[in-house]
Amino acid sequence: MGCGGTETHSPAGAGEEVSEVQARALYIRKCSLCHGDDGKLMASKSPDLSLSTLALDKRIALITYGKGTMPGQKGLLNSAEIRAVARYIERFRE
Ligand code: HEC
Repeated sequence: MGCGGTETHSPAGAGEEVSEVQARALYIRKCSLCHGDDGKLMASKSPDLSLSTLALDKRIALITYGKGTMPGQKGLLNSAEIRAVARYIERFRE
């Protein structure tokens, strides 16, 4: 099974990549409980992610360490997974 010998896609600085499908699965499993499939559920007093303007690095920190009643994912997800989920939720923005 080859990739057709075309140029390999490598993301800047990351040795490992998490696909969008995996990122979505992680989001559904870890985040949709409070934030909903579209980021707008707002359960457990969580903010509407479609209105969030938090920068990527801030989101990564927040997802890693948690905040208030939001649980941190440190030790549960690796850094590539956390980054992928942090990117994934940008799609909720309008
Ligand atoms: C137990 C409920 C819960 C779960 C599960 C949860 N969150 Fe949250 N989330 C919250 C709450 C509550 C806040 C507000 C924290 C605060 O500011 O005190 C928040 C805040 C955020 C914010 C900041 C939004 C902003 O602009 O202020 C982001 C981004 C976010 N969550 C993403 C995620 C992601 C990604 C996951 C999955 C890895 C996740 N959350 C899982 C409850 C949750």
